[in-house]
Amino acid sequence: MKALVLAGGAGTRLRPITHTSAKQLVPVANKPILFYGLESIAAAGVTEVGIIVGDTESEVRAAIGDGSRLGLEVTYIRQEAPLGLAHAVLIAADFLGDDDFLVFLGDNFVFGGITEIVRRFTEQRPDAQVLVTKVGNPSEFGVAELDREGKLIGLEEKPTEPRTDLALVGVYLFTPVAHTAMRAIEPSARGELEITDALRWLLDGGYDVRAGEISGYWKDTGNVADMLEVNRLLLETLEPAVLGEVDPDTEIVGRVRIEPGARVSASRVVGPAIIGAGTVVTGSYVGPSTSIAENCLLRDSEVEFSIVLADSVLDGVHRVEASLIGRNVTVHVTRRVPVAHRLVIGDHGWVQLPN
Ligand code: G1P
Repeated sequence: MKALVLAGGAGTRLRPITHTSAKQLVPVANKPILFYGLESIAAAGVTEVGIIVGDTESEVRAAIGDGSRLGLEVTYIRQEAPLGLAHAVLIAADFLGDDDFLVFLGDNFVFGGITEIVRRFTEQRPDAQVLVTKVGNPSEFGVAELDREGKLIGLEEKPTEPRTDLALVGVYLFTPVAHTAMRAIEPSARGELEITDALRWLLDGGYDVRAGEISGYWKDTGNVADMLEVNRLLLETLEPAVLGEVDPDTEIVGRVRIEPGARVSASRVVGPAIIGAGTVVTGSYVGPSTSIAENCLLRDSEVEFSIVLADSVLDGVHRVEASLIGRNVTVHVTRRVPVAHRLVIGDHGWVQLPN
């Protein structure tokens, strides 16, 4: 079995972060989201991985390299434009050859991994296998319809009137017959070759396409709220450790990880939280569900339920909540008059100020 991991796409819902960074490389609990997916593929015993890349190819290559660090053998496949998931499979046909394969969307997060799913597929070997899970907003996803016995009877991509609340999870398993389906379908209304349409083509053609309900937790981390939620859940399983310096005036409560080279003084850190290598926290409060990346400075500030990326500064800020702060960002308070907000915010940025 081979794996095809999708790491292209524009990431419009995560702007402005994705103006300068691939959405799959935004870290949660201080590790890029894509790494969790690749680790779960390696854990399932699949080592030959094709990564579909787009405009952010160089960044993805720099982060993952040849994959050997993760126990993988990575081949990069360039998709010139985001023409759909089935298009990605089409351009990977040479790489995939006659092998069974799984498709893993690089911004998806499957808690509990995919080992069991891959094992069952290899054992039973239906023509294709999808995973579904109940969601509150099915029209934002591919939607599956099952009969009473749990047999898959219908599939639709982002329907305005979904027939069920079962969303397609971004992990699919295929036998090589799938290539025929990918070649047979036409672009959808959004101009993409949809993997959902290829699956429906197989289903309608009488092929054995099965749907398994996912037991572990699943998130598509396309937007900030989902990102913060995955971050929160991951931090709950964090291995606590104080590897940096913590002064006697600091109070550490609960599950907290302070990475090597981080310095925390006169502060209160309430876990679950992680403070990255080389970050300085002084006179500050870091609250639950917070990930501060490397080489940041938090001075006289309070932050909770947030992700702060590398090299950023919070100085005198009370208080930051439910926020995603990019790299090299400075937020600081001055006593200068007039008392006004001065903002330099990237395109598609978003700020909420208290009144
Ligand atoms: C894609 C699929 C959709 C699936 C979703 C899972 O949507 O087209 O069927 O439910 O991934 O994350 P997209 O992220 O391309 O909007």
